[in-house]
Amino acid sequence: MSAARMLTGDRPTGRLHLGHYVGSIANRVRLHQRYDSFFIIADLHMLTTRNTREDIERATDNAREMVTDVLAAGVEPDRATFYLQSAIPEVGDLNTLLQNLVTVPRLERVPSIKEMARDAGKDEVPYGLLGYPVLQAADILCVRAQVVPVGKDNAAHVEVTREIARRFNHLYGEVFPVPELVPAETPTLVGTDGRAKMSKSRGNAIGLADDAATVRRKVRGMYTDPNRVRADVPGTVEGNPVFAYHDVFNPDRARVAELKERYRAGRVGDVAVKEELADAINRFLDPIRERRARVEADPGLVDRLIVEGTERTRAEVRSTLVEVRRAMGLTAVYQRVRRRAERTRRAAATPS
Ligand code: TRP
Repeated sequence: MSAARMLTGDRPTGRLHLGHYVGSIANRVRLHQRYDSFFIIADLHMLTTRNTREDIERATDNAREMVTDVLAAGVEPDRATFYLQSAIPEVGDLNTLLQNLVTVPRLERVPSIKEMARDAGKDEVPYGLLGYPVLQAADILCVRAQVVPVGKDNAAHVEVTREIARRFNHLYGEVFPVPELVPAETPTLVGTDGRAKMSKSRGNAIGLADDAATVRRKVRGMYTDPNRVRADVPGTVEGNPVFAYHDVFNPDRARVAELKERYRAGRVGDVAVKEELADAINRFLDPIRERRARVEADPGLVDRLIVEGTERTRAEVRSTLVEVRRAMGLTAVYQRVRRRAERTRRAAATPS
C-alpha cells in the first residue's frame, strides 16, 4: 500500500521568513511525517511575474536556500522529496490538458492573480499569470497529492484544483484524488511595518535565516502604536504588530498577558516590550539556526536531494501522464492514425 501524498512548496524568489513559517511551514513540519511528502520548487510559477535572465539565474541559489530553510525549519530530508518544477516538462503537458477544464471568468475571480500582477507592477495580467492556478493544479494532480498545506493566498488555487479534478474525473473517469487544503492555524502575519502581510519585496520581513543581531535591529524598528509618544501614555494592543508577534512567538503566555496589561495602563515602554519580543523570536529561531548549521556542514546535501527528488518525481509524473492520456482517449487517437498509416503502407507495398 502506498501512503497518501502531500504536496507543498514555494517559488524560488528568495529566502523564507516568519510569515511563511506561520502560513505553511509549521504545517509542513507537522504533516510531513504522516505523508509521502513532495516539496515543489515552483520556478515555472516564478516566471508568471519574474522572467528576466537575472531572475531565472538567481533561481538556482534561491532554490538551494529555500530547501535549506525548509530543512532548518524541521523537515527531515529522508522524509521529503524536493523537486524542481521546470525539470519535469510533463507538468506542462498536463497543464495544457487541464486548461480546458476551467473558464477565463473563473480564473479572473481568483483574488491572488490581481494582487500578484499589482505587486509585480503590471497593469495587465499576463496570460501565464491568469493560468497560475491551473499550473498549480497540474502540480498537485500530477503527483496525485491528497493534502496541500499552503498559506491563505493559495487557498483559492487549491479550490480551482478541486474543481478541475472533479471535472476531469467526471468527463474521463476517476484518475485524480480531489485534494484537501490544509489551512494555516495562525492568521496571516503582518509585516514589521504593521502593513498587510510580511513580504520580502516590501522589506517588512524577518527571515528564518536572520542572525540574532538582525532580528533585534528589525524588532527595534517595528511599527507600534503611533500615538504613544512616551512610556506613561496608555497604549493600544489590538492591531499592534509587536503584540501580534508576541502572541505567535512568545510561549510565555502569562508574561505576554502581563505586558499587554501594563502597556494599556502606560506602565511599560515600547522599548522593553520590543526587547522581550526580540528575545522570544531569537529563542524561536535558535533551533532552526542549529539545524541550518548541520545542513550546511554537508555542502552537497541540498543539491543532491533536489536531483534525487526531481528524478523520482519525474517518474511519477510520467506514469500519471500515461494514465491521463489513456483516460482521455488521446493515446488511442495516435494509435489509430499509426495503424492506418501502417495498413496503407503495407497495402501499397503488396503487389496486387
Ligand atoms: N503557489 C505557491 C506559492 O505561492 C507555489 C506552488 C506552486 C505550490 N505549485 C504548488 C504550492 C503546488 C503547493 C502545491 O509560491
